[in-house]
Amino acid sequence: AAESGLAAWLRYAPLSGSQHLHSSLPSHIVALNSTVGSPVYTAGQELHNGIQSIYGKQCNIHHGHWDAASSVVVGTVDEYTKAYGPLHNAPTLIADGYWLSTEGGTIQILGQNERGALYGTFQYLSMLAQGNFTKVAYASNPDAPIRWTNEWDNLDGSIERGFAGPSIFFANGVIVNNLTRVSEYARILASIGINAVVVNNVNANASLLTPQNIQGLGRIADVMRPYGVQVGISLFFASPTSAVQGQANLTTFDPIDESVVAWWTNVTDQIYEKVPDMAGYLVKANSEGQPGPLTYNRTLSQGANLFAKALQPHRGIVMFRAFVYNQLNESDWKADRANAAVDFFKPLDGEFDSNVVIQIKYGPIDFQVREPASPLFANIPQTNTAIELQVTQEYLGQQCHLVYLPPLWKTILDFDMQADDKPSLVRNIVSGERFNKSLGGYAGVVNVGTNETWIGSHLAMSNLYAYGRLAWDPTSDPTSILQDWIRLTFGADPSVVNTITQMSLESWPAYENYSGNLGIQTLTDILYTHFGPNPQSQDGNGYCQWTRADQKSIGMDRTVSNGTGFSGQYPSAVASQYENLATTPDNLLLWFHHVNYTTILKSGISVIQDFYNQHYAGAATAQTFLTQWQSLKGKIDEERYTDQLFRQSFQAGHSLVWRDAIVNFYHNLSSIADSSNRVGNY
Ligand code: GCU
Repeated sequence: AAESGLAAWLRYAPLSGSQHLHSSLPSHIVALNSTVGSPVYTAGQELHNGIQSIYGKQCNIHHGHWDAASSVVVGTVDEYTKAYGPLHNAPTLIADGYWLSTEGGTIQILGQNERGALYGTFQYLSMLAQGNFTKVAYASNPDAPIRWTNEWDNLDGSIERGFAGPSIFFANGVIVNNLTRVSEYARILASIGINAVVVNNVNANASLLTPQNIQGLGRIADVMRPYGVQVGISLFFASPTSAVQGQANLTTFDPIDESVVAWWTNVTDQIYEKVPDMAGYLVKANSEGQPGPLTYNRTLSQGANLFAKALQPHRGIVMFRAFVYNQLNESDWKADRANAAVDFFKPLDGEFDSNVVIQIKYGPIDFQVREPASPLFANIPQTNTAIELQVTQEYLGQQCHLVYLPPLWKTILDFDMQADDKPSLVRNIVSGERFNKSLGGYAGVVNVGTNETWIGSHLAMSNLYAYGRLAWDPTSDPTSILQDWIRLTFGADPSVVNTITQMSLESWPAYENYSGNLGIQTLTDILYTHFGPNPQSQDGNGYCQWTRADQKSIGMDRTVSNGTGFSGQYPSAVASQYENLATTPDNLLLWFHHVNYTTILKSGISVIQDFYNQHYAGAATAQTFLTQWQSLKGKIDEERYTDQLFRQSFQAGHSLVWRDAIVNFYHNLSSIADSSNRVGNY
């Protein structure tokens, strides 16, 4: 249905009153590749459909040289040169980059490769869909080569931490027959510059490697290839001993055993026969019960390099996850899971093959509402790195709460590690620029499902859109990205744009305030659902997301002088900032320090009173999301209005549940009264 979310931000909704703009539109589309399924061919179709749908104008499509005024030419720079001769003022383009010029009689959309040409096409169509006829002529290059999504889909069709129904890729242990949704997904991803999708869960299953499923991966690759999106897969480290139907069954998965090396080489070759352009592997090893090289006393680098060597002849890459930790004992004041990544990986810097990329979650724990940037980014300068972000809102309201995430992501991407006392922004580390690496980039856990909203709620799609835009250019402004998305998704009515902008920008601070502020983490249930308040669940278990709250005091002491030593994992300037209470920002105070509830913050308010105040303030803001959304009735279609109304009503109520659960918990524990007399007074 037109009102469903299936087309996401590629709705190409008709622009009313746009007839007079027809003369500014091209009449001819020249797609310089006539091969059906090539990204440039796709770009030609997309231009045709977009211009017709938005403006009601039918263009003619040509392939190969065509001289006509009023045309748009799309292709690679090489294809262009062959057809028209050398390009004047040829732009500097890197892989996936494009040149877009709407100046002059002919519009040029030229990619360094076919994919770049398609990206430039989507950019031009985004302008048209927003009624933007500004004359532009510029080159745009991606900030990093790796711009992937990770899908945590299981072969039985369920999705780990997915909130939008079953898998679009798998059912009953195999790849589904009808891959229409996969092709539609690839189109959406291409429009934001995503170039690969890891289709199965990091908690992987060896049965993906049966001959039938390898063939199925080939079908997935075939439907995504027209959009320039490559397939990657997650591997189960112990696959050689898993009795995979159709593959040899070994008695060991030791990464340096010759039979194991041969096993992976053989399986990898089989996959590349069916998927000649497979992007690579994603590996979660020795983490949360998963087997890995440590099982055989081998190093994590030996484990990663096993796959790197099998992939190398095919130019594939290994994304090896840094999310490796052990459960710890809370009675040990110095125990700290946050230390694990640097402890495990720093000694291995320099030992990873050149096609290995260490994939690092943005914070040292696990996708919490606020974390400091993972210090690992600054500790392995000889190793390729990528940042792992989560679009699926696992701990952040599971798409039942509106939380626009880019402002959170920007706190990490723009964070300066000051490695060797030189500017070292995380975004310049993962792009490869800071430490001079040729590989690096972004992995976003998305977890789309068959739900027509793709990820579970219409408004949550702003996060997917912004993820792609930031992976392409992490310096872009979250507000302007958001507003492009709103105009493309809901139209340009200023009250719609302003309202959704305001709600979205207030949403992360509000969620932080009514869940867990001052750096205490989300305070959600961490044992089972990761949804809803459960401050008790943080302590008394081995997960080391401890608050160490007692009757007088709260927080994790992560200092070198008296605590876990975590602050010392940062380069010295940052380390000394976090080491000292006085220079630690309030919003990370309880992350780094154990303090009394009565400790006075930089704001002049005590820790406990700030807890009370912010929880009330955050929940109050969430009430306004409902009324703000209600102000849009009649301004957007009924189907999407009603769907989101349900969610905003839920969030309004659930934010009160959150507020009361948290403030009562700490009121009971501390017995300190709320100076405004709200807490405990019902
Ligand atoms: C989180 C999440 C798990 C996931 C893990 C990971 O802990 O809850 O479902 O498997 O992260 O990223 O590996």
